[in-house]
Amino acid sequence: MHASYQKLAKFYDAMHQRRDYDKESSFVIKRIKEINPKARSIIDVGCGTGTHLQKFSSHFETLAGVDLNKEILGVAKLKFPSAIYQCAPMKDFRFDQKFDSIVSLYSVFNYNLTLDEAEATLKNMHAHLNNDGVLVLALYVAKNLERKISIHVGKDESLESAKIMIMSMIQNQN
Ligand SMILES: C[S@@+](CC[C@H](N)C(=O)[O-])C[C@H]1O[C@@H](n2cnc3c(N)ncnc32)[C@H](O)[C@@H]1O
Repeated sequence: MHASYQKLAKFYDAMHQRRDYDKESSFVIKRIKEINPKARSIIDVGCGTGTHLQKFSSHFETLAGVDLNKEILGVAKLKFPSAIYQCAPMKDFRFDQKFDSIVSLYSVFNYNLTLDEAEATLKNMHAHLNNDGVLVLALYVAKNLERKISIHVGKDESLESAKIMIMSMIQNQN
């Protein structure tokens, strides 16, 4: 997983240009503020190229992004330099402050491949949340165990790209 996102870093935004990040971000902000209207700080775990952080910025004072991949974080830092970034696996990131909310979007939590890893990640997230903190996980839920193939194509002024994903469930793993 790490290696493939390293190669994808410079193509990621082009391949996801059809996503409605405004809509996704508004949905998430609305949920957080409904539960904790005073929420002022947020971590995006698996922040990728930082697009959600950028969209969250007018609603939060302190923004942090965690990602395993330093190349993809490099894109995020250029695009949205105002966040605090940390290159770490989601089960191990460490900040010396707690936050009002943590989000992990676009199935990032599914990259925990064992129950032990998932538990360690949830404990780490919990340790970084203030009382009344809100956790939002957007999960990929497989409807069946069949193989799924999807193709993402992207194009901007300087590049054209295509990513072919083949997903399948492995017994007892995510
Ligand atoms: C599908 S992208 C999602 C990026 C962003 N959240 C979005 O919605 O566009 C998955 C991201 O998760 C990161 N990632 C994968 N495994 C991770 C892990 N164990 N800990 C932290 N980040 C991870 C990848 O480097 C990549 O940036």
